[in-house]
Amino acid sequence: MRIIDAFAPAKINLTLHVIGQRADGYHLLDSLVAFGPMGDRLVLRESGTLSLSVTGPEAAGVPADPSNLVLKAAALLLRPAGQGAEIHLDKYLPPASGIGGGSSDAAAALRALAALWDQPLPAETAQLGADVPMCLTPRPQRVRGIGEALDLVSLPPLPALLVNPRVEVPTPAIFKGLDSKDNPPMPDVLPTFTGAPDCIDWLATQRNDLQAPAIASAPVIGEVLDALMTLPGCRLARMSGSGATCFALFETLDAAQAAEATLAQRHPGWWRASGMLGDQTQKAQPHSRAS
Ligand code: C5P
Repeated sequence: MRIIDAFAPAKINLTLHVIGQRADGYHLLDSLVAFGPMGDRLVLRESGTLSLSVTGPEAAGVPADPSNLVLKAAALLLRPAGQGAEIHLDKYLPPASGIGGGSSDAAAALRALAALWDQPLPAETAQLGADVPMCLTPRPQRVRGIGEALDLVSLPPLPALLVNPRVEVPTPAIFKGLDSKDNPPMPDVLPTFTGAPDCIDWLATQRNDLQAPAIASAPVIGEVLDALMTLPGCRLARMSGSGATCFALFETLDAAQAAEATLAQRHPGWWRASGMLGDQTQKAQPHSRAS
């Protein structure tokens, strides 16, 4: 029997500029994203039927029913007659937290099921969620449109600490809370970076426009950003997506890991993970094995 292991990396919006709004209400974005080595794990076993189970430290509140994006993703693929998959999802990323958990799970399921069923990936995946197309290519990229226009970019690996204060923020309400929906984009041509320090300097000149409305809705996000900025070696602290997860960037992985240990003592109730943000293509490649 074939078993496929798949990894769903965290997606981090290093910048997120909201630059307009479409007639249907969706917002036009200009965002730089990178992927982290922390993430959810999926195990798929060959089976005659399709099923999903969810466990792991962050499984609470994650449905194992057809509303889960993993099963919605499976429904987008052409499923050969008599074939299914027993899918097991191990949740390590806090759900609904601005780091793409559900979207990355859907992208990992698409890659793994396409391999298991020997089918091509569907052309249209944005219907699953605006973040799914970018999660299918877990490399640094610039994301425009409502999330469907993707351009790969070259970024140095960025040592980071991710922190979530365990509040869920409703994405539509955060977009509604924006003072302006017509903010400046990033420059047309991004600078060429020589390493993490000059990349972080430049990132600090950019924004996440959803950060202010998210703090207004959940003030603890402001506390997280303050706590991150007081950590030794922290060069930049910002929120990812519509929150509530925030990230801090450092010049070295040692500094990020030391900061994680300090933060664990100061705020033991907050979720956290550290690692190098960048290209997770290798790690996200589904691996096949026999049982
Ligand atoms: O596509 P997804 O389900 O992730 O989006 C969740 C919600 O976020 C949408 O229903 C919409 O209210 C808001 N959104 C938006 N503009 C985007 C992406 C999401 O307004 N580009």
